[in-house]
This record gives sequence, structure tokens and C-alpha cells, in this order.
Amino acid sequence: MIEIQHLTKVYGRGAKSVWALRDLSLSIDEGMFGLLGPNGAGKTTLMRILAGIVSPSQGSVRVAGHDASTEKGKTAIKAMLGYLPQELGLYPELTARQFVDYMAILKNMNDEPARRKRVAEVLELVGLAQDADRKLKGFSGGMKRRAGIAHALVNDPRLLIVDEPTSGLDPEERIRFRNLLVDLASDRAVLLSTHIVEDIGQTCREMGVLSHGELLFRGSPNEVIGAAQGKVWTVTTTNGHKPNHGMTVVSMLHLSDGTQYRLVGPQPGEFPEAQPAQPGLEDAYVWLMKSKEEGARVKDEG
Ligand SMILES: Nc1ncnc2c1ncn2[C@@H]1O[C@H](COP(=O)(O)OP(=O)(O)O)[C@@H](O)[C@H]1O
Ligand SMILES: [Mg+2]
Repeated sequence: MIEIQHLTKVYGRGAKSVWALRDLSLSIDEGMFGLLGPNGAGKTTLMRILAGIVSPSQGSVRVAGHDASTEKGKTAIKAMLGYLPQELGLYPELTARQFVDYMAILKNMNDEPARRKRVAEVLELVGLAQDADRKLKGFSGGMKRRAGIAHALVNDPRLLIVDEPTSGLDPEERIRFRNLLVDLASDRAVLLSTHIVEDIGQTCREMGVLSHGELLFRGSPNEVIGAAQGKVWTVTTTNGHKPNHGMTVVSMLHLSDGTQYRLVGPQPGEFPEAQPAQPGLEDAYVWLMKSKEEGARVKDEG
């Protein structure tokens, strides 16, 4: 569905330039693909390139065979794409129905009866049928995101791109929104970006981990977890000894008789008594970030 090759994006020039993407190659199929990375990793840049809003500095993008660097390709891609930006400007005085209808008009859906029908359909699909005629300014965070998804779905896109849709939602809204995306991915490609690990593990068969514009890993969540096998430890300290050498503390818990740490690192080091633990996706993410940072440090020092 998406073929990205040697994609590089540099913002600005000279000393002030920022490398948002570095020689990124990635292919994405149907179903739900999760792009996980911290703030500044380049997720939004990648999505904006896919949506044709930003041009790459180098490299190529193909969506369903269409070349995103040509005008013809861009038009074809736009027709099959739904995009929910990270910062979606809603119109607070419009109702959900008016908003989605307005977006449908912007997408050239000129046949009014067909458009009305489609608007009602997508509002139903995202669970807003009951609230369709309420103004957006009264909506909760989750309802606003669902209105955003409704607008992105109005042209029945084969590819849906959603940029950090769950940030700022409460747990219930997040779960509901996630389930909606999984549903939508049953018959289209969905590309989801997030910095929240739980958004991915539960929902995506395939994922990529992005950091500083580079793809650190591409595979299933289980394969990502496999990369951290043997790197996760638990230890309970009773003497106030805090981990400091080369271990990352993933979590800590104060108990009546000491402090229990969950640590990520190549060896237990200063804690020979540490017990190996089964990694989870969050541990694996920490491990990938950590090994990347250490690799960069070794390069700098060498
Ligand atoms: N329009 C822009 N001009 C200059 N730098 C930018 C611009 N947009 C993003 N950046 C920089 O590019 C890097 C990647 O940003 P972004 O793609 O927004 O990452 P993410 O979405 O993962 O947080 C960051 O260092 C960011 O500051
Ligand atoms: Mg972003």
C-alpha cells in the first residue's frame, strides 16, 4: 500500500537545518500499522509527506502504486487518502453534521443527496449519530477526535492516516477510539502515530519505532519485544542503593521493606542479585531508545 524509499526531510538551511527524517525506508500493507516514537521523532513530518502537504528533501513515496512526487500521483493519492492531523482545527460554532458536510464539500462531493447520506453514515460509523446536531464546542476530547475521523472518512479512503489521535484523551475515550480504528482497519490501511506504547501493542499487527528521523525497528509488537529479551531485570533494594550505572529505571515501587525497581540494560551490573524479567512492549521501546542513544554516544566518542 505504501512504499517509502530513502526518505529524507531537512527543514531549513545551513547551521539551522533540522533533519526530521533520515534515509527512511519502510513498506506498509493493509490493516493497522503503528508508528511509535517520542516527540520530535519525525512522525508528523512523515505523515505530512504522505498526505502531500510537505515535500521530501530526498527519496520517494508511492501509495498504491502512485508516485507522490508527480502532480498526477498526488491527485490520485489525495482521492484515496483520509488524514486526521495532530492539530485539527475544528469550527466550534458548527455542529458535527455541519462540520463533516463542510469538509465533504471541500472534497468536491457535489451531489447533495449523496453527500448528506454519506455524512450521516460516517457520523453513525464513529458513534456520533446521537450528537450529530450538537455544536462541536460542547464536545469532549474523544468526541472531537471522532468528529475528526468522520471528516477523514467522508471520501471512504483506502488509506487512513491518523497523527497522535489518542493524546489528551481519558482512558475510556482512548480505548473506544482505538477500537474504532481497529474496526476501520478491517477493510483499509490505517497508519497510526503515537508516543503512547499501549496504543500500539493492543491494536497493531505491524509497527515501526522511529527516533530522530530513523527507523529503529520494524516488525510485529512481539518481534519488538523479542529484541529486549535478556535486557529487563527486577531487583528490590533494602539499603537505599539507587541504580545509576547504565540501567534505565522503567518503574519503581516503594515497599515496606525496600524499593522494587524494574530496570532495562544489557547486564544487571551493580545488582548481581537482580532477576531477569519477561519484557513487555514498553520495556522493549525503552531498550531500543537506549541502545540507539548509546550507539550515538559511541560514534561521537570514536
Ligand atoms: N516546519 C518545521 N520547521 C522546522 N523544523 C520542523 C518543522 N516541523 C518539524 N520540525 C522539526 O522536525 C523534527 C521532527 O518533528 P515532527 O515531525 O513534528 O516529529 P513528531 O511528530 O514525531 O513529534 C523536530 O525536531 C521538529 O522540531
Ligand atoms: Mg507529531
